[in-house]
Amino acid sequence: MEKIRRIAVLTSGGDSPGMNAAIRAIVRTAGHYGIEAYGIKNGYSGLMNGEFELMNSKSVAEILQRGGTMLYTARSKEFMTDEGFHRALMVLETFKIDGLIVIGGDGSMRGAAKLTDSGVAAIGVPGTIDNDLPYTDSTIGFDTAVNTAVSAIGNLRDTSSSHGMVSIVELMGRNCGDIALFAGIASGGDIILVPNEEYDEMEICRKVIDGKNRGKHHCLIVVAEGASISGNELKKTIVEHTGMECRVTILGHVQRGGSPTATDRIIASRMGQYAVEVLMAGRTGRAVGIAKGELIDMDITEALEVKRGPREDLIKLGKILAE
Ligand code: F6P
Repeated sequence: MEKIRRIAVLTSGGDSPGMNAAIRAIVRTAGHYGIEAYGIKNGYSGLMNGEFELMNSKSVAEILQRGGTMLYTARSKEFMTDEGFHRALMVLETFKIDGLIVIGGDGSMRGAAKLTDSGVAAIGVPGTIDNDLPYTDSTIGFDTAVNTAVSAIGNLRDTSSSHGMVSIVELMGRNCGDIALFAGIASGGDIILVPNEEYDEMEICRKVIDGKNRGKHHCLIVVAEGASISGNELKKTIVEHTGMECRVTILGHVQRGGSPTATDRIIASRMGQYAVEVLMAGRTGRAVGIAKGELIDMDITEALEVKRGPREDLIKLGKILAE
């Protein structure tokens, strides 16, 4: 096994709070073992264009607590073309990179898997607010996004109660309902709508009226962006069939920013350190994650195939607690 001398790290896809903590851990762990670490700016796009910067312990000072990514990020279509991909391979060769660490979501991991197939020693670190990589218990940024949503829903509850109105809040998560489900339960949401479930809008209206009849001053409906009904569609039905005032808040990109929670800082730091050590141990094409509190690594392609069934227990909990 050849000694790893030089590694590079990039962040790709939607940013997530904690990505900086992971970059910091990667650079400092590399320094600890005498390995050179390059930061690649702007994700795969910067990889193709050779936007490399040698980093050291000082370059990653004061970023642990910052949201976003100091390396910037992009969703690169060009990297998916043969021409772009080969350019990326040539750049990695030119910089004599022995190992590449990609921090990002499923699309970014797919890029890392493709690089692995072409002989690059690549490692994927799960960084996305969506928590849609079921091989790991949690992705970096998810906990912060949930907490941001909980804070926003708390504000909506106040005004919803004061006005006796229905508040619908639509949360991010692409096809995964975890942000909505976790934030909905943590906020005492009355109705939580997640992807891959069919909903009867009349039944929802009945629940809204029922809550009002039971003396509830607010009604909080949390909708995942991938749910079969959108917040605005639901609002129309509710206004039409209940006559109640109803407002929709699409929380949007607010959920992607902000200082990472302690939980995200810790998992990012642990996974960052582990990613470097996995490379040093000669394991490549691995996705790093956390399962039952322990660090794990598994084949990236296999990791991307891991599926999670509906979170029946949490869906049931949300319903019971709203009764
Ligand atoms: O994957 C993170 C995420 O924020 C999703 O929750 C959302 O669907 C998507 O990215 C939005 O992407 P963009 O900022 O490119 O519109």
